Amino acid sequence: MIVTTKKLFEAAYGKYAIGAYNVNNLEQIMGLFRGNIDSQAPFIIQISKGARAYTDKIMLEGLIRSADQVFPKAIFAVHLDHGDEASCYDCIDSGFYSSVMIDASAEPFEKNVEITKRVVEAAHKKNIVVEAELGQLGGVEEHVKVDEANAKLTDPDQAKKFVELTGCDSLACAIGTSHGAFKFTGSQGLHFDVLSEIQKRLPGFPLVMHGSSSVPQEEVARINAAGGNLKGAKGVDADQFLQAAKLGVTKINIDTDGRLVWTRVHREYFRDHPENFDLRPIGKEFMAEYAKFIAAKNVKLGSAGQLEAVRKYLG
Ligand code: G3H
Ligand code: 13P
Ligand code: ZN
Repeated sequence: MIVTTKKLFEAAYGKYAIGAYNVNNLEQIMGLFRGNIDSQAPFIIQISKGARAYTDKIMLEGLIRSADQVFPKAIFAVHLDHGDEASCYDCIDSGFYSSVMIDASAEPFEKNVEITKRVVEAAHKKNIVVEAELGQLGGVEEHVKVDEANAKLTDPDQAKKFVELTGCDSLACAIGTSHGAFKFTGSQGLHFDVLSEIQKRLPGFPLVMHGSSSVPQEEVARINAAGGNLKGAKGVDADQFLQAAKLGVTKINIDTDGRLVWTRVHREYFRDHPENFDLRPIGKEFMAEYAKFIAAKNVKLGSAGQLEAVRKYLG
């Protein structure tokens, strides 16, 4: 059942976070639904502009609609990840997405407000909810001094003003994470002080944490042992998810970790089965491993076991 992120956030706020997982293909979609059903978790399936262009946006829509039939107990939102204005309007018009993200965070504050406001107006007319972003991820790097790094984090006063001016439904905040497999190169962790200040100014308002893959060291070691080269890869401590959830983070975005599962499974499989050229055994193995990964991640997020409570909440 496709629902809006708004409803999922209402049910989760202050208690746990909903996993928002990026998908690109059939195997990821099957593994994702299986993992969420196995762990009894509501979830957000998110689609980037790159994912929409990978095959065809209609293909992904078709696969997700089919998964909804194959897994009739699943409760999930369909979300556009890091949209620009044009892709937001396309998703709003499609009648398929229940939520879109407008990412105008690279623009100056006023321009970000202006663009976000336009998208919110269009989305709300169709009961679609909007995630916006303020602050910039990925700037917290080793060679950047802490002061400069902090300058890129979301400013709590601006966050309050931004939400009031735009009417957005949730806000992605920069609190020290970055996208990809090489985070915290300057060894900074999550800035809970900043998060707590944002929550004080926006009590009850759902916050979003991007760049939240954990980049498990065991996974990195296995990939490297099977011919990969991901030296120095590092991620977010998943044991901090619940602390973030208590401070208002209701959506936690994970893409890179799923790509690592894919890479490890494929590298090891072809190393260990050099004679194989059949795509199905490896596809099956990936789906099973991805489902296991999702179920374990949902335990860290606190969303595992919440499915029936959410169903009740939805009425
Ligand atoms: O934040 C970006 C997501 O990881 C999506 O990545 O644009 O390569 O699909 P992508
Ligand atoms: P990761 O690269 O840490 O998985 O972040 C994904 C993300 O934020 C998608 O929007
Ligand atoms: Zn992101």
